Amino acid sequence: MAGALVERVEIKKSALVHNIREFRRLVGRKRKFLAVVKANAYGHGLLEVSRIALQSGVDWLGVNSVEEGAALREAGIEAPVLVIGYVPFLGLEEAVARDLRLTVYNRETVRRLAALAVRFRKTIPLHVKVETGTWRQGVDLKDIGAFVRDILKRPGLVVEGLSSHFANIEDTTKHDYPRRQLESYRSACRELEARGLEVPLKHMSCTASTMLFPEPEFNLARVGIGLYGLWPSKETYLSCILEKKKPLSLEPVLSWKARIAQVKKVPAGAFVGYGCTYRTTRPTVLAIVPVGYFDGYDRGLSNAAHVLVKGRRAPLRGRVAMDFFTADVTDIPGVKLEDEVTLLGADGRERISAEDLAALAGTISYEILSRINPLVPRIVV
Ligand SMILES: Cc1ncc(COP(=O)(O)O)c(C=O)c1O
Repeated sequence: MAGALVERVEIKKSALVHNIREFRRLVGRKRKFLAVVKANAYGHGLLEVSRIALQSGVDWLGVNSVEEGAALREAGIEAPVLVIGYVPFLGLEEAVARDLRLTVYNRETVRRLAALAVRFRKTIPLHVKVETGTWRQGVDLKDIGAFVRDILKRPGLVVEGLSSHFANIEDTTKHDYPRRQLESYRSACRELEARGLEVPLKHMSCTASTMLFPEPEFNLARVGIGLYGLWPSKETYLSCILEKKKPLSLEPVLSWKARIAQVKKVPAGAFVGYGCTYRTTRPTVLAIVPVGYFDGYDRGLSNAAHVLVKGRRAPLRGRVAMDFFTADVTDIPGVKLEDEVTLLGADGRERISAEDLAALAGTISYEILSRINPLVPRIVV
């Protein structure tokens, strides 16, 4: 099967299982473990990753949209699924019908869900998101008590979770801002307790905070990037060292591979690709790689990245186009048509990491991975 594909993403199951076990050690058995599988499991393949995660003891899955949640249900996955993103009014009915857990922070959404609870004769568990300083989604801290009371007075609605999200925990080794956010979250918990409102699932974590702030009051851990074998940032790694925490051993899960579509010899002085941005300085052997920015290979990698061919690094020449880019294989003997090219991952002793490509493209590993076109086949190996 893989042999017939011009391009593929390989998912190393043993690496994913290993990373999940590493996080389970941190999360412990008493807390629930939610694998963040939004954005096509950070580019790794929603269904492929979700199935392996659940087989490996993950309790919950986290998606961004009802569409992603529906895809899990269509595939027969019955585990609890939390929709982290925004669900428009017209998507609420499907979310309820498919037993997806929703994140709420607008009263209008709550009103509409209450009507659906009556119509479906269902109890709908909600996760209220509280604003602690990321200023993205969330109910203002000062309104949290009233918001939760408003939910609870409506028949058919229950508050299952209270969530929030850190703004910059990955960006720094100084954690005064996340600590302030944590304090705000705790004050929301106190406010609810003082009103006699008990929320069963408390969750605020991401990979970095699971590593750095294993706070006892959280009983659901949301982990994304770490499951895929990447550190959220250098700062997170450094923070672990500074705080004398043994860094987890993480193994990258994803490799991205393609086949050479043409090998061609060009003379010195030849211009390569759109815009003629590269001119050869010697007789050159070019490998034409049938992957472009449509596939998610960032155009910012033009004339900058390397790929691996026969375990050796080959530099990109010219611009990344929609469906093709070109690598210089002059110094790699014996390269031929349909040889394998590794865009991301290891070949022999060489490795190209998502962090390497992110640095060259001026972004973060999360974006490099999650933008790999979902149409590229994901193969579990
Ligand atoms: C609300 C929420 N929780 C958890 C995560 C997981 O973060 P990470 O991938 O850093 O573990 C994300 C990722 O964007 C998120 O948006």
